[in-house]
Amino acid sequence: MISEEQLAALSYPAMPRMVSNEFPGAKARAVIERAMQFQSPTRPSVRGRLVIEGGRGAGIQDPDGNIFIDMSAGVAVANVGRSHPKVVAAVKAQAERLMHSAGLVSETTVALAEKISASMPEGLRGECFTWFGMSGSAANETALKYAKAITGRTQIVAFEGAYHGVFHGTLALTTRENFRKPYGPMMSGVIHMPYPDDYRPFLDLEPEAAAAACAKYLDHRLSTPNTGADDVAAVIVESMQADGGYLDPPLSFLRAVREICTRRGILLILDEVQAGGGRTGKMWACEHAGVVPDMMTWAKAVGGDLPLSGVTVHKRYQDKLPPGSQVITGAENALANVVAMANLDILLDREDDLIGRSVAVGEEMKQELIRIAGKSRFLDGVRGRGFFIGVELVADKTTKEPLDLKRVGAILQRCEQLGVRIMSCGRYGSTIRLMPPLTITREHFREGLRLFGQAVSEIESETAG
Ligand SMILES: Cc1ncc(COP(=O)(O)O)c(C=O)c1O
Repeated sequence: MISEEQLAALSYPAMPRMVSNEFPGAKARAVIERAMQFQSPTRPSVRGRLVIEGGRGAGIQDPDGNIFIDMSAGVAVANVGRSHPKVVAAVKAQAERLMHSAGLVSETTVALAEKISASMPEGLRGECFTWFGMSGSAANETALKYAKAITGRTQIVAFEGAYHGVFHGTLALTTRENFRKPYGPMMSGVIHMPYPDDYRPFLDLEPEAAAAACAKYLDHRLSTPNTGADDVAAVIVESMQADGGYLDPPLSFLRAVREICTRRGILLILDEVQAGGGRTGKMWACEHAGVVPDMMTWAKAVGGDLPLSGVTVHKRYQDKLPPGSQVITGAENALANVVAMANLDILLDREDDLIGRSVAVGEEMKQELIRIAGKSRFLDGVRGRGFFIGVELVADKTTKEPLDLKRVGAILQRCEQLGVRIMSCGRYGSTIRLMPPLTITREHFREGLRLFGQAVSEIESETAG
């Protein structure tokens, strides 16, 4: 297994390191002002105060010279850390040879498709083909179209809390109102079902029973005539729901969904865009449940430092798809391909065993977080696998009332002032997701948690009990 010293060498020598008198500092503020003037207000960093100028391993550097511990891995993208030396070497070697390859067959695309196939869970491994895109949204859009073309059916089942993207098709699957409302009407033919949430379980049942009830309700909905559910092409589901609250449902849920789909001739699309790529302690999160999808969508961690996504489909559907009907000009970029291959090699290296390490270190950090939560008024419901760890911020641990967004925002801002980058998520916006690079050292992970705990406790003490 890779040593802590080897991992430390991938990041900045001292993290965090806050050197500017104020945060954001003058240089960062100037960049933010220009972003407000020249970038669209719909950009993801609209409320952001942290400006990134450099990134190394599990560290982020801003223009004022501050260095932050990155507990978000660039939204679960930098699983191997930013600018990993092997990735940088792959970029340098490829850049002078070929980058753009639209409309042509290229060796790096074929090689990546083979590597992706080899990385898949048994049942897809060696028995699949892949379409390439540049974002998770694009991969899911494509999977929806494929499901319709393959089955000749039109409806899609998705789950409450899901985030599958922001384009017109995928937006209809995504349930967050702030994304949907300005852009209606949505694509029709989408049915949303409850997704198990062990912290606030469906129908107030115990987690296993709640998961079983979710699956049973799905089966019921699909078998009830005249409800629009008799024409379903696919069920799309995150193996572990990410944006919806870093949820880790009982494994029985995904197995039950697989069984229902198989029995009803419905395709199962697993969205592994955020949970995949080694984040949960397996290469693909569905491997925990031993569930094999008909199609898997993936993006973030596979592409890493360059944008890349894909839909990997069981080969039994190869003849069902109209040749040349799903094309994106900038996809199959050779630079992105070699970066993805380097990422897969790093993640799947047996000697370094980054994924195996994330199981052990993730468990240690979860215990540390449970300890911190035990002393806190706001922190509750620690859960997760590997480096996919969620914790709730609540106003009241008994009622589980979510903490108001103002205080959640204040905690995250305080984290940044202290030198740690942390993100929230969840249906109420009050879940904290801890998703650092798999290459973070134990020491940095623990320090990130300590600073997070400090930020929470400072906001707690400003709040009347
Ligand atoms: C599970 C899941 N699916 C799809 C997407 C969309 O990916 P992208 O932002 O690359 O379009 C995301 C993004 O966070 C995601 O978490």
